[in-house]
Amino acid sequence: MAIERTLSIIKPDGVEKGVIGQIISRLGTVGLKPIAMRLAHLSRREAEGFYAVHKARPFFNDLVTFMTSGPVVLMVLEGENAVAANREVMGATDPKKAAAGTIRKDFATDIEKNTVHGSDSLENAKIEIAYYFPETAIHTYAWAKKA
Ligand code: CMP
Repeated sequence: MAIERTLSIIKPDGVEKGVIGQIISRLGTVGLKPIAMRLAHLSRREAEGFYAVHKARPFFNDLVTFMTSGPVVLMVLEGENAVAANREVMGATDPKKAAAGTIRKDFATDIEKNTVHGSDSLENAKIEIAYYFPETAIHTYAWAKKA
């Protein structure tokens, strides 16, 4: 299996609920380790740029307003099949449809306040990681370098 990197965001509702530690702990149970991490309060410009692919969607403006409503935790995660592993542990976008035991099932409020973001493909992971982190801020593990 391939060692991959993916971008994870703990959204303002997750930070507000005080579950940063619980979320990072759950990521660890599926082998995902943060190799870059920072707390940030996104500007509208940063959030609009990050979600540019959704610009034409009816929820775009509300999404940007929510993502700029408070601090978020930005993380690069590394591990085996990181993109899929992260999506699995997050659960479905809409928490009503998320499987039992997933982060969104247990912590999310609704499809907007859904606690976490994760890259949806390896290609987008590369773009999203580069959006928030220069390569010099990413600290890979020795075991991953060998893979
Ligand atoms: P995320 O994985 O961060 O990617 C885009 C976000 O848009 C998504 O999670 C949701 O939080 C948000 N969103 C709000 N409304 C909708 C909707 N109707 N369909 C899909 N995503 C939505």
